[in-house]
Amino acid sequence: MSTQTLSVAEAIRTRRTVRHYRPEPLDPALLDELLDLAVQAPSAWNMQDRSIVVVTSDEGRKALSEAAFGQPQPLEAPAVLVFVADPAAWAAANADIAEQASASGAWNAEFRAMFDSRAEYHALRERGLLRENAVKNAMIAATYVMLAATGLGLASAPMNGWDAELVKHAIGIDADADLAIAVMVTVGHGVAVPPHPGRRPRELTVFAERYLN
Ligand SMILES: Cc1cc2nc3c(=O)[nH]c(=O)nc-3n(C[C@H](O)[C@H](O)[C@H](O)COP(=O)(O)O)c2cc1C
Repeated sequence: MSTQTLSVAEAIRTRRTVRHYRPEPLDPALLDELLDLAVQAPSAWNMQDRSIVVVTSDEGRKALSEAAFGQPQPLEAPAVLVFVADPAAWAAANADIAEQASASGAWNAEFRAMFDSRAEYHALRERGLLRENAVKNAMIAATYVMLAATGLGLASAPMNGWDAELVKHAIGIDADADLAIAVMVTVGHGVAVPPHPGRRPRELTVFAERYLN
């Protein structure tokens, strides 16, 4: 399916956080395409240690709006994508990842041996960085979703303002599960495209060679 109407650069430049949506549902084919593009996002060691819970039911979106301190986006948008990061994925059953990459020739034996040793993950665990690592991967997938949505003519909004325990409850995750909610992204048909809020001059945020240079 090729429904992208914009170049990547155009999608980056025109994407806005849209907080109000028309009530019409999402075309299932568009949602399917969006999710297909989302899982193309890269992740460290191709671990894919993030999942997306797609919430479209009235009840589920209401619970997510309440979890987000009453923000309207989840109630108005026909779909809310909750990005769940799994800091323990590296230690779970995932031999299929190495098998697939080896079979395609993407990984040679040396790379596969490094993957199989999980050396980097043991080091991350020692430094208490497993959660951060998984959340990074989830955020990249969320970024893919926002840009892909723009390219598909859909509006989106990233959301970090919520109570994690309430979000977990709404999507069926135990409160004490070793999972992190990374971000929610609402998707739908926007009422209007809001103005670009602007960005600070590049001199303040982009440096050559050395920080603050
Ligand atoms: C990680 C993240 C979390 C955000 N959380 C919220 C949120 O909870 N509620 C909200 O209204 N906007 C939220 N925003 C949207 C930002 O306010 C918005 O991206 C920013 O003002 C720039 O506007 P633009 O996205 O249209 O370029 C969030 C953005 C990001 C990247």
